[in-house]
Amino acid sequence: MQRIIKEDGIPAERIPEVRKYLSQVVTETARVGRIVQDLLAFSRRSKPHQRGNVNFNAIVSTTVNLIGHKLKLMNVEMDLRLDENLPPIHCDASQMQQVLINLIMNGAEAAQGHPEAHVRVTTRASASNNEFTLEVADTGDGIKPEHLAKLFTPFFTTKGEGKGIGLGLAVVYGIVKDHGGDIDVDTKLGKGTSFIVTMPIDGAGTAASASGTG
Ligand SMILES: Nc1ncnc2c1ncn2[C@@H]1O[C@H](COP(=O)(O)OP(=O)(O)OP(=O)(O)O)[C@@H](O)[C@H]1O
Ligand SMILES: [Mg+2]
Repeated sequence: MQRIIKEDGIPAERIPEVRKYLSQVVTETARVGRIVQDLLAFSRRSKPHQRGNVNFNAIVSTTVNLIGHKLKLMNVEMDLRLDENLPPIHCDASQMQQVLINLIMNGAEAAQGHPEAHVRVTTRASASNNEFTLEVADTGDGIKPEHLAKLFTPFFTTKGEGKGIGLGLAVVYGIVKDHGGDIDVDTKLGKGTSFIVTMPIDGAGTAASASGTG
């Protein structure tokens, strides 16, 4: 753009080109923002933890609105199955938003390009054993068995240069563990993948940690 702009401004015939470059700048700065956020979350230098009893379904809705535009551009449909009777969940809302963004973006990146690409977010709770469950499922290609053991390792990525840095799931893992929870993966090659997060509803860590999934 610096080269295109002359002393008297942008030549009219080159405006489309400048628009294209500007849109690249917007996309790429957003990507840089996401990477920095992941790095900060990973090094736990983001905001101090602020836990409270929160409406988790509301966090899901806000998050989906936040990234809705991006999902639309990717041609990925969201499908929300939110438990209407969900009790308040004891957690840090902004950390949970990070968990949702990272899991939904992974699902969308996996499903993108497939016919009827979908990401489904499900919430449910079992009050009797103090367990809250969040599930993020996609219609992507699934995960190869040889990759399963490395998923949560920092900087493990199968995405090309400039596409992923491999921190998304490491951040998710750290936050979920911090909340006394667990994360499980259910994947079928050619069918899709589901990440299942379980956490104690009241933050006390009875059921979810005692049952020891994953
Ligand atoms: N839903 C999914 N379907 C298929 N593979 C997945 C899915 N989620 C994660 N993976 C695999 O796990 C790897 C690590 O995921 P992670 O989110 O940590 O990093 P990334 O998506 O590659 O990069 P980043 O999240 O930092 O942009 C991915 O590169 C991909 O191979
Ligand atoms: Mg990711």
